[in-house]
Amino acid sequence: MALVKVAKKADISPGTGKTVVANGKEIALFNIGGNFYALSNKCVHKGGPLGEGELDNSTVTCPWHGWEYDVKTGQCLTMPVSVETYPVKVEEEDVMVEV
Ligand code: FES
Repeated sequence: MALVKVAKKADISPGTGKTVVANGKEIALFNIGGNFYALSNKCVHKGGPLGEGELDNSTVTCPWHGWEYDVKTGQCLTMPVSVETYPVKVEEEDVMVEV
């Protein structure tokens, strides 16, 4: 496991998300009220990019077919499956993910 800088805090406004890459892994990174959460970018259904999904509180909707996930836990709310989550560390302006 390594801590990888993936974004600046200012890159991701509260209530939005973004796809970033760390150690070759695509990660969906979200800002909920100033707290950052990271999970696998790949929707379990058919691999849709969760980082491009719409965020509503802590729920992201996959942009491809609408499966919903809790970004704090990685738990899918549509089916009994989940995606991997990653620890996030914020140091000054940098957002880092442990992968
Ligand atoms: S790929 Fe995400 S809902 Fe189908």
